[in-house]
Amino acid sequence: MKPRLRNLIFILAALIIILTVSHCGNKGQTPVSDSVKAGTTDPWMGHRDTARYVGINTCKQCHSQIYESFLKTGMGQSFDTVSREKSAAKFEKHTVIYDKESNLYYHPFWDGNSYCIREFRLSGKDTVFLRTEKVNYIIGSGQHTNSHIFSTNGYLHQMPMTFYTQKGTWDLPPGFENGSNTRFSRKIGLECMSCHNAYPEFVEGSENKYSKVMHGIDCERCHGPGSIHVALKQTGVMVDTSKAVDYSIVNPGKLTVDRQFDVCMRCHLQGNAILKPGKTFFDFKPGMVLSDFMTVFMPRYQGGDNEFIMASHAARLKMSKCFIQSLKTADSSASGNLRPYKDGLTCVTCHNPHVSVKVTGKEVFNRACTNCHQPEGKNKTCSATAASRKAVEDNCVGCHMPRSGSIDIPHVSVHDHYIRKPQKKEDVGAVKKFIGIYAVNDNHPSALTRARGYVNYYEKFNPQNPALLDSALYYLKQSDRQEKEGYAVFNQDIFACRIQVLFLKREFSGIAKLTYEKGNAWVLENILKRKGSGNGDAWTAYRIGEAYSKLGKKEAAREFYSRAVKLEPFNLDFENKLGIALLDLNRKEESAGVFDFILKEDEKYASAFSNRGRIYFYDRNFAEAERCFKKALALDPDMLDAMKNEVDVLNETKQYEAAKTTLLKIIKRFPADKDAPMLLEKMKALNLIK
Ligand code: HEC
Ligand code: HEC
Ligand code: HEC
Ligand code: HEC
Ligand code: HEC
Ligand code: HEC
Ligand code: HEC
Repeated sequence: MKPRLRNLIFILAALIIILTVSHCGNKGQTPVSDSVKAGTTDPWMGHRDTARYVGINTCKQCHSQIYESFLKTGMGQSFDTVSREKSAAKFEKHTVIYDKESNLYYHPFWDGNSYCIREFRLSGKDTVFLRTEKVNYIIGSGQHTNSHIFSTNGYLHQMPMTFYTQKGTWDLPPGFENGSNTRFSRKIGLECMSCHNAYPEFVEGSENKYSKVMHGIDCERCHGPGSIHVALKQTGVMVDTSKAVDYSIVNPGKLTVDRQFDVCMRCHLQGNAILKPGKTFFDFKPGMVLSDFMTVFMPRYQGGDNEFIMASHAARLKMSKCFIQSLKTADSSASGNLRPYKDGLTCVTCHNPHVSVKVTGKEVFNRACTNCHQPEGKNKTCSATAASRKAVEDNCVGCHMPRSGSIDIPHVSVHDHYIRKPQKKEDVGAVKKFIGIYAVNDNHPSALTRARGYVNYYEKFNPQNPALLDSALYYLKQSDRQEKEGYAVFNQDIFACRIQVLFLKREFSGIAKLTYEKGNAWVLENILKRKGSGNGDAWTAYRIGEAYSKLGKKEAAREFYSRAVKLEPFNLDFENKLGIALLDLNRKEESAGVFDFILKEDEKYASAFSNRGRIYFYDRNFAEAERCFKKALALDPDMLDAMKNEVDVLNETKQYEAAKTTLLKIIKRFPADKDAPMLLEKMKALNLIK
């Protein structure tokens, strides 16, 4: 490039075009801190409706160095299609893990170019059950773990084996331990995906179906949609970014402290995330206010703040005096200051997200500390003895940001981002009293948001603590009051939350009462209407359906399941419930149609096989019925329904010994079941078996 003159021409051209292209006039040249304060219009072109995501390969064309370096980071490698290069795992012929609770073994292996996970059960030396699934995607760069995902027709589920790289061992994935092994059925929903990848193409009306899945977190997750930036640069419209903000793309480094945090907190604040009504996990874009889209709650414990979960770096950092104090003094309004966070403490103070922590030397981190903690400076300096510091080459972060285990993920340790005086051993691990949840990214969550926070916390994290639901009810009462004082006549989100609380408390008649007060038809007509994942109307319909079903109100149950399915047609669990409800009403043909639809969508949906088989059985098509039950049991050897169904068809076709074998299996696996021993006795009495 010819220096100076050409730059000048670019800047002039940029000025002119930005003046005409953008509606925000002179903002192409003023620092963001000023413009955000002064104007009400959003200066970022990437936030316009016309802006599109273009993908990392487009950014690579002009920013190849950043691209190369970024691909070596954990974020660059966070998600990909399976391959030998992508996998960080060690494969040994005899690698087997055993889950005692489910009595199942797992073995990972390569079969040619297919990476497989085999699940099996032994009885003595015999293999009595075997299921093998191919891995399609790996989630986790391998800096800490590799977890595995498989796809059937776009429906993504997590697999029951994870490789823990720090210890070099295989084990069950986090959350699958101690009797919670969901095998191949844990859905990979948008919440997961939107933290670990570039935005996928998601099938609306599903929970976990995708028509396209990307290859890892990409540039636009932190820089926002880039189509306008690319178009402008391609036509030569330039901005001197050393002097001004280029509003065609977000540079997080030029955002204010809060907005910059929001970019990283979108993913590095893993807690209990509550979407604002009508918002989805796709909606937040860098430069926007995160709390407009979601409120993230974390638990708070009395006397103890040593426990932390892995992806809570932002919450931990925000607890540090370094953060709190420096934010008070940071001058983010200084005119002409392109980097409003300069004197504050944000992630970018220590991290360049294009460069992995693996190659960032510790001197980079320590320089960040000493920039603020200088001997003559206004902040205190280290009060530890010189000798102790010298012994570790005065590595500040080694003592003040120690590696520790996280409570959510076993075998994994991360660095505690709560910067403080090193903790005494006895403080760590002391028994903590849970005192509530607090919103990390939102100073004033509404009463309803709080209520939903408590419900979600109970449902997803701590179902042992029913007091959480009482807290939810307390805040619901508050929001009711606000509702009455305000203009809203009826708030459907309060209604939905109330239904959810009652559902979790298993107070089904309460749900029926609440619905009935309004009238079923009125509720269906006026409330449960909003499509799209995230708003929960489909779930409310489903919960009301469940309540009616439990109360034996079959037709009402069917009506509400139908609504759930109408709002989320690719939520196969809802479909399955509808199918059962139809069968209950003896509407066999419609019911069969529903199960056929499920199996066309996901041929690994075991329960739909069992239910479809039941209809064949009623139609006296025993061969098809038996085939269906076998399929169900080949997917899930412990499905009680399918086993009982199989016994029925075997008896009907006079295969008594085979029926006996299945009955014995039921008795062994489900000692509390009363039907199986009774039937066995009856068959003996009738001399059908010995
Ligand atoms: C056709 C070339 C081209 C492409 C493609 C391109 N950029 Fe740029 N980008 C530039 C140039 C040149 C600059 C510096 C001058 C400017 O901003 O006008 C720049 C500047 C930037 C800046 C700094 C802005 C600032 O205010 O500091 C960011 C961030 C950025 N690009 C991100 C991206 C991302 C993300 C993509 C992919 C979506 C991308 N770029 C695609 C050419 C390109
Ligand atoms: C709010 C965003 C968020 C959600 C939701 C989330 N994660 Fe994570 N997860 C993270 C972040 C951030 C890290 C990295 C933390 C670190 O490196 O210290 C992480 C770490 C991981 C790792 C370890 C990666 C590695 O090798 O370092 C795996 C595997 C993982 N998550 C899987 C999942 C799965 C599966 C789900 C959904 C069931 C999920 N996560 C949901 C943000 C999230
Ligand atoms: C995890 C978030 C994140 C991702 C992903 C990311 N960036 Fe950045 N990017 C940042 C931050 C933060 C800054 C500001 C760094 C600073 O000021 O110290 C930045 C700055 C930039 C800049 C301008 C200043 C510079 O460092 O030259 C460009 C250009 C850029 N990024 C391009 C890209 C491209 C291209 C990709 C994808 C290959 C990418 N970024 C991926 C967060 C990210
Ligand atoms: C789209 C979600 C997302 C966003 C936005 C995001 N991160 Fe990450 N980040 C992750 C996940 C997931 C991982 C773990 C990836 C893995 O190892 O599999 C991670 C890992 C990291 C790591 C450790 C990995 C490495 O190689 O260095 C750093 C440091 C990091 N992020 C910093 C940031 C900063 C700073 C920002 C904001 C500018 C940011 N991240 C924004 C999701 C995100
Ligand atoms: C942006 C400036 C800034 C940075 C960067 C920074 N600190 Fe601080 N730190 C402060 C301020 C301000 C305080 C408040 C107390 C004071 O007056 O020193 C503080 C307090 C502390 C305390 C005392 C905390 C307590 O609870 O009493 C420790 C320990 C500390 N910092 C260590 C570090 C270490 C280690 C690093 C680097 C990893 C670091 N700081 C980075 C500004 C910073
Ligand atoms: C005061 C400096 C400092 C700040 C500020 C900081 N980090 Fe870190 N971060 C570190 C250090 C030191 C490590 C450990 C690096 C290593 O592995 O050697 C680290 C590691 C990480 C890792 C890798 C996993 C782990 O814990 O080892 C992630 C992810 C991460 N940081 C995210 C963030 C995010 C997100 C923010 C902002 C909320 C942030 N960091 C702010 C110093 C900092
Ligand atoms: C050998 C471990 C170790 C190293 C290395 C270390 N510190 Fe400390 N630091 C400590 C301990 C222990 C304390 C608390 C001592 C006490 O009880 O007063 C402390 C206290 C502090 C305080 C609080 C001082 C006060 O009066 O409240 C600051 C600030 C601090 N360290 C910053 C740093 C910085 C910056 C570095 C790197 C240049 C560093 N430390 C290196 C162990 C260490």
